[in-house]
Parts: sequence; structure tokens; C-alpha cells
Amino acid sequence: MNETGRAVHLADTRWVSQAAEIAREAGARLRDFFAKGVETEYKGDVDLVTVADRTVEKLIRGRLREVFPGHGIFGEEGTREGLDQEFRWYVDPLDGTTNFAHGFPHFCVSLGLEQRTPGLKADEDGKLVAAVIFDPLRDDLFTAEAGKGALLNGKALHVSRTAELAESLVATGFPSRKRHSSPNIHFYQQFTLRSHGVRRAGSAALDLAYVAAGRLEAFWEFNLNPWDTAAGILLVEESGGHVTDFAGNPVKLASHEVLASNGLIHQELVGLFQDMFAGRDLSPIPTPEEWAARREERMAR
Ligand code: IPD
Ligand code: CA
Ligand code: CA
Repeated sequence: MNETGRAVHLADTRWVSQAAEIAREAGARLRDFFAKGVETEYKGDVDLVTVADRTVEKLIRGRLREVFPGHGIFGEEGTREGLDQEFRWYVDPLDGTTNFAHGFPHFCVSLGLEQRTPGLKADEDGKLVAAVIFDPLRDDLFTAEAGKGALLNGKALHVSRTAELAESLVATGFPSRKRHSSPNIHFYQQFTLRSHGVRRAGSAALDLAYVAAGRLEAFWEFNLNPWDTAAGILLVEESGGHVTDFAGNPVKLASHEVLASNGLIHQELVGLFQDMFAGRDLSPIPTPEEWAARREERMAR
């Protein structure tokens, strides 16, 4: 209690420092599983899950309960606890499961904390207040607190200063469910033709952390979930970047549209999305048949 008799919440620094400890412990477990190798199961079409995803979510859930007994938890592998509480952790115990299952060394733990003022409707967002993303193979610990900036292993982070898409390295991802209804390959094509390149590395949380760190100028993806994005959104915002939906409106955790950038190229990206949604200004490439026909011509000469 403070002198006015009102309950005082834990200092922000404890949210991040405790969550960072939990993420490090979770990351160490992931590293062990990765070294041993694990069997893969299917949640859907090509939606993979392993014993590591489930074990590590259980570990994180237990630790969060011990350290923050009054906080809610919303985890990818099914944890739904205390969702009426003022504070809610979004937990992705293993972001990059497909990479993990194939031995491709790029994945992380993601923990994002949302503060939800009492009375907020279920579909309304609160305020993101703390973020931790840990890559256990590179030992990269990304952290952020609302209003206090973002850090990588304790050093201040800032988004890149590149001002044009034409000089940018960007990233995206593709869903593992309902793959046939995603238009993203068209965006992949257009961004590839207009930038230094598009990376599809398989961990949305690390993609966002890399925008925060200035390793990428931008990231977009269709159909992500709050456990993929909550921590990464705060990291980008706290390192000077900007995150919106594809129309440039404030991002919503449940909106399934994330467009994150260093801020400087954001309007250009929103413009490209608008042009593409309107079918304007597309840069054509040859179809495989056209390319094959030209090859035939070349060989006949
Ligand atoms: C996936 C990764 C991937 C993204 C997928 C996500 P998961 O999360 O973030 O990069 O493209 O849309 O589902 O399943 O590995 O936690
Ligand atoms: Ca994920
Ligand atoms: Ca996951």
C-alpha cells in the first residue's frame, strides 16, 4: 500500500526482470530439447507441435503463477487463466516450432504483458506494458517496458534509420493453417521487387525483435495471434518504430494484421498495401510458362 492507502503494483522493473529470468529458464529447456531432438505431432495440416512446446508452456505457466499470482495467462498451447485480471501475460513458449522440429536454429520464447483497465470489453485491447523475447541459441535477450525503451542484453535498442523501402531488408511469414486462403505470396513478390530482400525466417516474435534492433526495416504478416505479437509490438514501439494494421490504423492484438517498421518507411509500406489491395501498380514477373517458352526459343537458336 502507499500513503493514500491504494494498492501499489509491483514496480515495472520487476515485471521485466522476473519475466526475463523465466524466459531464460524456458530457453534453457528448449536448448536441451533441441540438442536431443524431439518427435513432431500435427495440430493441423502443417501446424506442428512438439513435447517442447507443451513442456515449456507448463514451466512458464507455473513460474508466472508463483511470481505474479494475480496475473492472467493466455498461452498458445491452451493456457487460459485469470482472464478477468487487470494484467495478462501472452505466452508463446516456442515461436518457430517448424524450425525447431527440423533442426533449423532459429526460435525463441516470447512473453508480453498487457494491462487491462477494469471494464474493458473482451475484444478491446489494454496497454502493452512489458515484453521479453529470448533467443536461447544466440543468447539474445530482448526486453522492453512501456515508456522506458527497449534493450538487447542490457544495451539500448533503436530501429534503423533507413528512409526508403528500396534500401530496406524486410521480413514476413506464412500461416500453417488455411494456407490456401492467404494472399501473402503476392505481397512477398512485390516487396522482393522493391527492397533489398524479404526474409522468411520462421519466427514472428524474432522478426519483430529484429525490427526493434535495426536488423530489419520492416515486418508484416497476416493471421498472427496475440502470443506471437504482444511482446514484439512493444519492443518495436519502445525502440522508436511504428506498428499498425495494413491500413495504417492502430494495431489490435486480435486483428490478425501486423505491419511493423522503423517508422521512416511506414507510409510507403501502407501505400503499397493500399495499391495492392486496389490492384494498382503491380510489377509483373513472367509466369513459369512464359519463362519456359523463352527458354525453348533460346535453345532453338
Ligand atoms: C509461427 C511463427 C512463424 C509465423 C507463423 C506462426 P509458431 O509461430 O511465428 O514465423 O509465420 O504464422 O504461427 O507456431 O512457431 O509458434
Ligand atoms: Ca508463434
Ligand atoms: Ca508457438
